[in-house]
Amino acid sequence: MSLLRSCLFFTSLVVAHPALAGASDARDAGRELYEDLCISCHGEGARGEPGAGSDIRGSIARQVTMAIGGGYEDMPAVELTDDEIAALVAYLDSL
Ligand code: HEC
Repeated sequence: MSLLRSCLFFTSLVVAHPALAGASDARDAGRELYEDLCISCHGEGARGEPGAGSDIRGSIARQVTMAIGGGYEDMPAVELTDDEIAALVAYLDSL
């Protein structure tokens, strides 16, 4: 494998697996997931959106796992890996 290709390979590995990266990378991955999947209901910066989703800043892993895994009140269940949930929690905790 050329040097360039191996660099690209390891970069994509770190991006795809937040647990392998440092805490700030996990937070960035969590922010991306949040903006893709959650912002429509829980609003900019997770501060809540009137009539949609509440302020979820600082939610702990158990709350996020429960809401995502089973759905919660009007929230549909979302399928995510443990790494993705950990990244979301790191992001919400940083707000
Ligand atoms: C279709 C709208 C919608 C989407 C998309 C959505 N939620 Fe929710 N969520 C809700 C509603 C409605 C509730 C229940 C009422 C409330 O607490 O806001 C809820 C509740 C929660 C709770 C529990 C809050 C508490 O009261 O303890 C957490 C944590 C949460 N959501 C996280 C997320 C995360 C993380 C995502 C993205 C993966 C997400 N939600 C995507 C609508 C949504």
